[in-house]
Amino acid sequence: MWKLNTIPIIAILGVFIFLLSSPSNARLINRLQLPSPLTGPESLAFDSNSGGPYTGASDGRIFKYAGPNEGFTEFAYTAPNRNKTICDGITDFSSLQATCGRPLGLGFNYQTGDLYVADAYQGLVKVPSKGGPATQLVTSAQGTPFRFLSALDVDPVTGMVYFTEASSTYQIRDLQTLITSRDSSGSLLRFDPSTNQTTVLLKSLSLASGVAVNRDGSFALVSEFLANRIQRFWLKGPRANTSELFLQLGGSPENIKRNSRGEFWIAVNNLLGPPPPPRAPVLPLGVRVSEAGIVIQIASLAEGFGTEAASEVQEINGTLYTGSLRTSYASIIRPFF
Ligand SMILES: *[C@@H]1O[C@H](CO)[C@@H](O)[C@H](O)[C@H]1NC(C)=O
Ligand SMILES: *[C@@H]1O[C@H](CO)[C@@H](O)[C@H](O)[C@H]1NC(C)=O
Ligand SMILES: *[C@@H]1O[C@H](CO)[C@@H](O)[C@H](O)[C@H]1NC(C)=O
Ligand SMILES: *[C@@H]1O[C@H](CO)[C@@H](O)[C@H](O)[C@H]1NC(C)=O
Repeated sequence: MWKLNTIPIIAILGVFIFLLSSPSNARLINRLQLPSPLTGPESLAFDSNSGGPYTGASDGRIFKYAGPNEGFTEFAYTAPNRNKTICDGITDFSSLQATCGRPLGLGFNYQTGDLYVADAYQGLVKVPSKGGPATQLVTSAQGTPFRFLSALDVDPVTGMVYFTEASSTYQIRDLQTLITSRDSSGSLLRFDPSTNQTTVLLKSLSLASGVAVNRDGSFALVSEFLANRIQRFWLKGPRANTSELFLQLGGSPENIKRNSRGEFWIAVNNLLGPPPPPRAPVLPLGVRVSEAGIVIQIASLAEGFGTEAASEVQEINGTLYTGSLRTSYASIIRPFF
């Protein structure tokens, strides 16, 4: 049950600042290994038959997990002219990703079966349910080509696609520079599949790294990695088109995933002291938050990723499917005993 390892938190006006002294332990169930030498199962998605997970990898392909015997099998790719000879097997953060593709955020439209993908270089693309090559949908907004798309969520009721541009200045190959910058050129956007129109909802975000729409489509949450916070953008109601602080964190948030009860899991990484080259070790955490912004649970993902950053936490049937941009595997974790 959840309550066995729920951590009491100090609440301040609905905004919770959590202390990282004692996140609950989580048990590693399984590691889903990408084909060698690929890395970076950054985001995970399941199809309408609970098949998967599907995940993007460093060489521009999207893989579907087909069970313990077959492992991850090739499902789709995002770059229209992707050359297998050149691209297969490249690792993060090769400059070849600009032409081979780098799928990050994934989400199915369960009505149509289409898989929507935010590709760091290829923009917003759509893969048919049978897989294969993707169709490019959006590569620019307000006349400016995207530089670094990062995350995506599909509204399960309306099919609206919410996605983020991490930065309009830096690309994913410059990620280390971006992380140490004060960049605030990220945005939250919406693609309407019934009109093919894209709308910029929020600008000036400090490395927009995750997005999720809530259960009834009245708001969307967006992570700002460099500002350690989650903003809420209202889509409906009297506050429509305005945003507010939803959650201030003690670490850098990445993807946000809704669970079946309408709560959100946020992957959060806390720096563990000064960086030995090339980067600082982190404590990877899963933070479970209610729709009101109340922290319900903090689960340590250290058993899954050690001191590598986690990029996503997704709750399915009482287990957590977790991804990372740095590892060669996704981890399945059980956070409650
Ligand atoms: C979750 O549980 C349901 C009901 O038992 C099952 O149909 C589904 O396949 C499970 N999903 C995953 C991803 O294991
Ligand atoms: C893919 O790249 C290889 C190696 O550069 C080249 O020989 C081949 O012609 C390319 N294939 C296509 C379809 O462009
Ligand atoms: C949207 O774009 C697709 C091609 O990607 C096209 O088939 C469809 O007709 C367009 N829909 C509208 C409403 O323009
Ligand atoms: C929000 O903005 C959209 C256009 O972007 C507009 O159609 C809508 O009326 C606005 N809603 C409110 C409540 O201001």
